Amino acid sequence: METVRIGIVGLGNMGKAHLANIRAGKIPGLRVTALCESVGTLPNLIEGEKAFTDVNLMMRSGHIDAILICTPHFSHTTIGIAALQAGLHVLVEKPISVHKADCERLIAAHTDKSKIFAAMFNMRTNACFKKVKDLIDSGEIGAVRRVHWEVTNWFRTNYYYATGGWRGTWKGEGGGVLMNQCPHNLDLFQWLFGMPQKVRGFCQFGRFHEIEVEDDVTAVMQYDNGTTATFVTSTGEAPGINKLEISAEQGRLTVTDGTRIRFQRNRQQMSK
Ligand SMILES: NC(=O)c1ccc[n+]([C@@H]2O[C@H](COP(=O)([O-])OP(=O)(O)OC[C@H]3O[C@@H](n4cnc5c(N)ncnc54)[C@H](O)[C@@H]3O)[C@@H](O)[C@H]2O)c1
Repeated sequence: METVRIGIVGLGNMGKAHLANIRAGKIPGLRVTALCESVGTLPNLIEGEKAFTDVNLMMRSGHIDAILICTPHFSHTTIGIAALQAGLHVLVEKPISVHKADCERLIAAHTDKSKIFAAMFNMRTNACFKKVKDLIDSGEIGAVRRVHWEVTNWFRTNYYYATGGWRGTWKGEGGGVLMNQCPHNLDLFQWLFGMPQKVRGFCQFGRFHEIEVEDDVTAVMQYDNGTTATFVTSTGEAPGINKLEISAEQGRLTVTDGTRIRFQRNRQQMSK
């Protein structure tokens, strides 16, 4: 198998976690050959790894074939576009960008289709949600009528928001719980149920923390086929809950903590 040489930019919480996984050989065919950190300290390098403080130099160094972008949100667009233009494969942490126009600019920069451009939506590989997707797409649970997802187990402290200097601010993070913690849940929501036609939401800014952005959200959605959905999230509740409930023609499907599925099957369709 061909070995892909990857460079990681941003060695904070997530960058270090990815580094540990790749170094541990968990991704066959992938080897870290460069690390880039502009402000923080880099972990000790091991043989074959080169350190950079300027991401542009890392991208053009010839030391990497691919880049993993683990920097704060607003830099994803700039670094991502530059990396694609440098002819690298690009894997960008969620969210791919903060604003829709920036997302579109980044996606449009992926012109060389021989290079892979992907975003880190790792929850799609969760066995439980893959099973839910299969149960919906195969028609096993019948047409979805109503969805309720309460995901309030994202509790974060004031200390968390004070770290990194960019969290909890419009300028640094571009949003709160919806932009940082929930991209996974919202991605799964549209992956499983499609895009709603109408969304109405109540976002409370700094309800539980000393932050500018939203830390408590209740959203109501309506789909063309009459399906309705609610999505509730918060970083200020403990104990929180992570419960997805799907009411469908053939029964009720419940997913708890992204690890347990319960399907109560109707003997016949609800509407018959
Ligand atoms: N996939 C997941 O489950 C998951 C989980 C947590 C965070 N994330 C995402 O990972 C990204 C990083 O989050 P984090 O919690 O690791 O943040 P962090 O603040 O802990 O780390 C970011 C690092 O990037 C460095 N940095 C910033 N700009 C840079 C630049 N231009 N060049 C080089 N280094 C630079 C900072 O010095 C810092 O060390 C965010 O997009 C976040 O949403 C994803």
